[in-house]
Amino acid sequence: MLFIFLNRNIFRQIIDNPINSCTDIARFSGTVKNLCVFALSTPYNGSHNLNFCACVIGHNLIDNLVNSSAKSLERVEQITGKSLDFYQNDVRDRDAMERIFSKHDIDCVIHFAGLKAVGESVAMPLEYYDNNLYSTVVLCETMRDHGVKNIVFSSSATVYSGDNTMPLRENSHTGMCTNPYGWTKYMCEQILRDTGKAIPDWSIALLRYFNPIGAHSSGLIGEDPRGIPNNLMPYISQVAIGRRDHLNVFGDDYDTPDGTGVRDYIHVVDLARGHVAAIDYMQTHKGENVFNLGTGIGYSVLDMVHAFERVTGKKIPYEITARRPGDLATVYASPDKSAELLGWKAQYNLDDMCRDTWAWQTKNPMGYGE
Ligand code: UFG
Repeated sequence: MLFIFLNRNIFRQIIDNPINSCTDIARFSGTVKNLCVFALSTPYNGSHNLNFCACVIGHNLIDNLVNSSAKSLERVEQITGKSLDFYQNDVRDRDAMERIFSKHDIDCVIHFAGLKAVGESVAMPLEYYDNNLYSTVVLCETMRDHGVKNIVFSSSATVYSGDNTMPLRENSHTGMCTNPYGWTKYMCEQILRDTGKAIPDWSIALLRYFNPIGAHSSGLIGEDPRGIPNNLMPYISQVAIGRRDHLNVFGDDYDTPDGTGVRDYIHVVDLARGHVAAIDYMQTHKGENVFNLGTGIGYSVLDMVHAFERVTGKKIPYEITARRPGDLATVYASPDKSAELLGWKAQYNLDDMCRDTWAWQTKNPMGYGE
């Protein structure tokens, strides 16, 4: 699990950091004195995104390194020029949480702590319910006991049911999830919603991520999946660098323009900016706030292959194979509510996402090398 404690003075340093291109951070009001971020390290929800957030907005963190590398922490230090206070703990460890909340004066929590591989969750449902639900319960209890009232939760587009029309809006149907991972996100949202109703003055942001890809533009931190990548972009990137022969395209007979699955890919930097916008918003909006973090644009698998080829100049051999069980034809967000209420909009386009993924992959052909 991973913590980041933020002090508002850090924001000045972030804005001054030439590597950080997120000028939006400058708009952050700085009303949060200390922010605490938790993650069970997974390639995106944990280590990568969180370390990215660390380099954007924070400097102290805790990680159990279950699914990430200590090297990523060194890289964050390199980017930010700050040394990290690193704790190795698990959010389910009540005693550790108690110690940490007693030691730090925390105003706001970002809860990234969760396992996130769909297929793995089908094979290991109990591990997923234990990790994802129990961490949320322990975290909420500790927050309650210490009077911490602001929480941003890393949710997912996977909470939406398959019977919706596109684009998905925050009030589209949820539930009927197709895998245990999706159910854990759905249930965590409900745990937080109920807690927010029971304890006055809680402010809860449920951020539903669409498909985060890309990397920090420095190429120093990025996604480093263990084993064979489950997700499209790291797979394409590993084909391009020569670690895999070809991409398997899961089905070309969907009801989409080219028959392959369509998704809403969002640059991880935009995703991190969305968290900052949500924290800002929460200062003046109590209760439950649900926001999509997506671009509103759908790209097919073959669009992604061709964009990656165009941007990198690398050929991506692919073969059409059977559909992957549980996949939907088309998923994309309406980002209107986030734009209207958070003042947040994705700034990076598909070429930026391919370029930054490739910068990370070429600088780190074997990831963090562990
Ligand atoms: N795909 C391939 N080949 C691959 C991998 C993926 O063709 O090797 C296709 C999929 O079939 C799908 C698209 O590429 O059409 C995107 O697949 P990803 O696995 O990258 O992403 P998903 O949309 O399936 O799932 C992602 C996250 C989930 C999250 C979900 C939210 O992995 O954690 O988005 O919608 F819940």
